Amino acid sequence: EVIQSPKIMEAAQKAGDRAVPESSAVESLCKDLDFVTGESGDVQLDPTLAYGAAALTFKDVSFELLPGRERILSPCSGHFEPGTLVALMGPSGSGKTTLLDILAGKKTSPYTGQVHLNGLPRNELFPRLTSYVPQDDMMFPTVTVKEQVMFHTALKTEVPSTVRREDWAKTIELQLRAVGLEEVQNSLIGSDVVRGISGGQRRRVSLACGLATGAQIFFCDEPTSGLSATDAEQCVRYMRLLCKKYGVSTVVAIHQPRQEVAVLFDHLLLLTSGDVVYNGKMTEARRYWSDAGFPVPDLVSPTDYFLDLVTPGTLDSQVDLFREFYQTSPKGKASVDELVDRELCKAALTAEELLEARHRRLSQFGDMPPLRSHSIYGVRFQKQLQKVFCRQVRLLLRDQQGVLTEILVAMVQALVVGAAYIGIGKGEDAGYHQVGFYFMLVMTCALSGIK
Ligand SMILES: Nc1ncnc2c1ncn2[C@@H]1O[C@H](COP(=O)(O)OP(=O)(O)OP(=O)(O)O)[C@@H](O)[C@H]1O
Ligand SMILES: [Mg+2]
Repeated sequence: EVIQSPKIMEAAQKAGDRAVPESSAVESLCKDLDFVTGESGDVQLDPTLAYGAAALTFKDVSFELLPGRERILSPCSGHFEPGTLVALMGPSGSGKTTLLDILAGKKTSPYTGQVHLNGLPRNELFPRLTSYVPQDDMMFPTVTVKEQVMFHTALKTEVPSTVRREDWAKTIELQLRAVGLEEVQNSLIGSDVVRGISGGQRRRVSLACGLATGAQIFFCDEPTSGLSATDAEQCVRYMRLLCKKYGVSTVVAIHQPRQEVAVLFDHLLLLTSGDVVYNGKMTEARRYWSDAGFPVPDLVSPTDYFLDLVTPGTLDSQVDLFREFYQTSPKGKASVDELVDRELCKAALTAEELLEARHRRLSQFGDMPPLRSHSIYGVRFQKQLQKVFCRQVRLLLRDQQGVLTEILVAMVQALVVGAAYIGIGKGEDAGYHQVGFYFMLVMTCALSGIK
């Protein structure tokens, strides 16, 4: 039986009316950050701007390194409505990244189970509707923070022709302000050899790149590791604001957040050694723990307490008890499975319809290229090529010493090769020598390309 989800359909109707994330809208977003508390209803869905209409459902997702041996993730199910901020928690090595990668469609090794978007199996358009922030930062050291976020966004989304570059840049600046990077927006990313921003700031640049793409679902792998407690809280508040105001969903793998950060999440999925030990609302976790016989003591942070109890090898560890309790409790696996089976029957907007809604919305602000509804890329090949080329030229010009060295090396090479092959056009064996020369020329070009 196909059931229409009223919540999703209503959000989808609004999706058609959403304005472009122009600077005034993002400016109000920055102001709204002060009102994010984690309480239910702290931020209202914005009826004109909300565009999130994608529910994520997964059933019996599991991963084994070798079939039948070395299980990394035991079968795990769940359902996240649009507008949900989800925390994936667990001790180190518990399978958070593995689960996140499977849900985000990033896992290349074979795994079992199904992942559905709005009740339908994921298709090739899924990456265009989602955004992934990996655990490791991968960025060019000699670009600035703002350039990095603008480049990333430009490769993911088309911008209407009437939106001026300055306006687009202003929008990005405001988004950088929301994650606390306003002051370093013109600093270089840096690396071990190039002086740049700090490790925590780099983490936030990765997060800003992911969040600026206007996706329906964001997957973030430890976006707050290496950040001070205050900065981490600011980032999670921003994620909650995006979820609640725009109706998008965010799944965040996170290590032991402090209490003020933990309460910002709607849903908690707690893993230990690849097994689920809690999968439900964050507000109901305390009660669940009491039912299992371990009420959270006063003055103790619930998430710290949960993690202490499910970390293998510690004195307080109760891993087997909680593993068993999840399997047998009516509030554990049974209730999740029931929810998942119900949600898998619901039909809502398809991936194509979600993309069409976004295209219609952006078309209100200027000419847009035709919607590429069957391509895995949201942006035309020529545009991607242009963006990558421009960035490469900018990087080259920035590295003047490198360019000078390359020119010098090329001149020396030319002189040496020229001297070695001088006069090859003359004599009886001219053709033979010339073939050798051209072969050497092609090889040199190919090898310098590899460099
Ligand atoms: N491809 C792989 N090859 C070998 N081991 C793997 C592979 N993928 C996952 N694992 C193992 O599976 C376990 C879970 O890994 P995963 O990266 O998901 O943990 P995590 O919860 O994200 O840990 P952390 O908090 O340290 O990031 C680890 O013990 C890891 O070594
Ligand atoms: Mg990880």
